[in-house]
Amino acid sequence: MILKLKRTPALFLVGFMGAGKSTVGRALARNLGWRFADLDEDIESREQLPIAQIFEERGEEAFRQAEAAALLRRIHDVSRGVPWVVAVGGGCFTRTENVDLIQNHGVSIWLDAPLELIRARVAAHSHRPLARDPQRFAELFEQRRADYQRADYRIGVSAGGSHAAVEEILALPIF
Ligand code: S3P
Repeated sequence: MILKLKRTPALFLVGFMGAGKSTVGRALARNLGWRFADLDEDIESREQLPIAQIFEERGEEAFRQAEAAALLRRIHDVSRGVPWVVAVGGGCFTRTENVDLIQNHGVSIWLDAPLELIRARVAAHSHRPLARDPQRFAELFEQRRADYQRADYRIGVSAGGSHAAVEEILALPIF
């Protein structure tokens, strides 16, 4: 196992909405016998509100603050040395302070799915507030690629199950 993972054994799955971070993350954790956390679920259970409602009632910036706080709590878990796979929401890895925390406490993996696949998975009437305007959605997709490129590894995702992505991650030279 590489030194970074020995110190803080965590894999962070980053990437755009609908790339499959939660599904792949869950399967990966099962395979490794590691724990799994989904940051969006952490936020919803902490705030006792669905994400869409947090956006509507408090605004995106309040959501981003809740997200940063949720990440920090997971970083504390990881720092105790228990291995975790953590799937983070699509906007998490676009904020420098989050990127720094993730890069200093584990290995980041970008699940990179093409926009057509993402569009098919994420319906416009989605519970995801940022997916409602198709034009803005496509702009965000392009804009965020530069952020996701900061991840340690990139895994290309194609249609089909999560199996191939999990296998590719397990074959990375980090374990
Ligand atoms: C967001 C992605 C969502 C969720 C929120 C904002 C984003 O998570 O955190 O709706 O900014 O891309 P998923 O990437 O899991 O859909």
